[in-house]
Amino acid sequence: MAAEATYTAPSAGRLFFALWVPPACAGTLHAMAGAVVGRSGGRLMREDTLHLTLAFLGDIAERRLPALMELAAGLSLPRVPVCLDRLGFWAQNHILFAGSSAPDPALGALADSLQESLKEAGFLAETRAFVPHVTMLRKLLHPGKLPALPAQAWEAEEFALVRSWRSDRGAAYETVARWPLQSAIVS
Ligand code: 2AM
Repeated sequence: MAAEATYTAPSAGRLFFALWVPPACAGTLHAMAGAVVGRSGGRLMREDTLHLTLAFLGDIAERRLPALMELAAGLSLPRVPVCLDRLGFWAQNHILFAGSSAPDPALGALADSLQESLKEAGFLAETRAFVPHVTMLRKLLHPGKLPALPAQAWEAEEFALVRSWRSDRGAAYETVARWPLQSAIVS
């Protein structure tokens, strides 16, 4: 019997919305992660890939990309303060990350609002509880004592739609588009 032909719609790739980490902070995190790798192993994230994920979409069909871009362009989301002041380790996925000891509620509200809009438009089925973090190192088995992270604080002024794929140098990331976050209206 002849095998049934299956059709797979062309994919726009594995997509997520994120805040890029500013270069000065990315340099600090990358150097600290490099020191941990030297001692304990693991796979270092490249400095120019460091980001904080707001909403993870996964594989999205190419034909849906225009609607996704239109949705993002139409959102009015506020600028938010980000402060990373601690390193953490998740044993379940072997990740070393930079996080916040007291994340500003505005950051969670931004992620929730974006995720809600994506859900309403059918781009998100389910979501993990939002835990703001920047992954610095993967495949770390035994972190040992983690160094203290001097607080890295900035105001996020834009958000980005990012495509990721596996390359022979690890994960590669490409900005598909980015949009400004709005400054508060002072009356
Ligand atoms: P991680 O850094 O904690 O692994 C691209 O893969 C980005 O999307 C990464 O920041 C990754 O988080 C995040 N990501 C991957 N799968 C996810 C999922 N199922 N839910 C939420 N975020 C996810």
